[in-house]
Amino acid sequence: MDLRNDRFLRALRRQPVDRSPVWLMRQAGRYLPEYRETRRRAGSFLAMAKNPELACEVTLQPLRRFELDAAILFSDILTVPDAMGLGLYFVEGEGPKFERPVRSEADIARLAVPDMQEKLGYVTDAVRLIRRELDGAVPLIGFSGSPWTLACYMVEGGGSDNHGRVKALALENPKAMHRLLAVVTDAVIAYLDAQRRAGAQALQVFDTWGGVLAPHLYREFSLPYLTRIAAELPRGDGAQAAPLILFGKGNAPYLEALAGSGAEAIGMDWTVSLGEARRRTGGKVALQGNLDPATLYASPEAIRAEVVRALDDYAAANGGSRDGHVFNLGHGMSPDMDPDRVRILVDTVHAHSAR
Ligand code: CP3
Repeated sequence: MDLRNDRFLRALRRQPVDRSPVWLMRQAGRYLPEYRETRRRAGSFLAMAKNPELACEVTLQPLRRFELDAAILFSDILTVPDAMGLGLYFVEGEGPKFERPVRSEADIARLAVPDMQEKLGYVTDAVRLIRRELDGAVPLIGFSGSPWTLACYMVEGGGSDNHGRVKALALENPKAMHRLLAVVTDAVIAYLDAQRRAGAQALQVFDTWGGVLAPHLYREFSLPYLTRIAAELPRGDGAQAAPLILFGKGNAPYLEALAGSGAEAIGMDWTVSLGEARRRTGGKVALQGNLDPATLYASPEAIRAEVVRALDDYAAANGGSRDGHVFNLGHGMSPDMDPDRVRILVDTVHAHSAR
């Protein structure tokens, strides 16, 4: 299998590239009219995610419009707790919910790593189909939620404004919290490994809620499990090895620790500059990010200026070289964003970073 465009994988390995690669978190989604049309036909988000043909179709949609350097599997981080028996469902306008949230020690004791083929075979089927349809155009990214972020949804039973239940559990019964995080970590490792074996060429862990923890609690309840994933997750062999990206919202205080985790790349939000991130991580890892997604609401001129500023900030801290940087947003796109402005972002990354 030869990739026609491998600049994303080369950047993750910190090898030279002809121009900086770019992809966008949530690049497939409601901001695209063709996504809304497919979702309408499918009936719901979950029906779409659980159908490999439809998941493949929406994965490819943004690539038909923009010159993106990677595809990301269309799925959701909450498929793993769903497979663990929690019963995922979506309420229109309210986001994800679980029928059976984890609330007691007995609930935690019942949790087990799900059988990947039986419970999550629709995900690996989608990975295989997407790889076939991509036919080497760009690499495919697989992903999972981080153990702490998945635990947030599992204990809260859905999204939460203050994460009161999951934080109370961590403080009152840290032993139980660690048991929960340990089994979720085992499931995450098995899930990422299954995606890689099905054909995912890079793997990203989304620690969306790590940043809501006080530093001593992040170091107790999120960081050790990210580090365990980095240490234990098989990457595959040689040239086929799938690099691991640890993305964290609010992970700026922990960049040194994350760079020492064994992951190949760190993704961060926009509250730290790429220059500072590069200086603090010392070139040990590739960096991914980190334009504020709200930049996409600004004028084309402002978007271009911010993209150029971010690219040049990284290069200035990296000895004048753009190598080792994957351009991305600092978090996911929103449904009300304008596809025309996305094109401006993607094209500016490529034009400005051409070597
Ligand atoms: O990036 C991509 O294009 C790949 C697909 C992807 C989705 N969710 C599709 C999706 C990825 C990588 C995710 C990850 C995810 N899911 C995260 C971590 C990333 C992040 O944003 O920090 C989280 C926290 C979730 C949980 C989740 N799933 C929420 C909170 C929601 C509701 C959001 C909303 O806008 O209503 C979802 C549903 C979801 N996952 C949608 C999409 C495109 C919207 C579904 C729809 O209504 O069509």
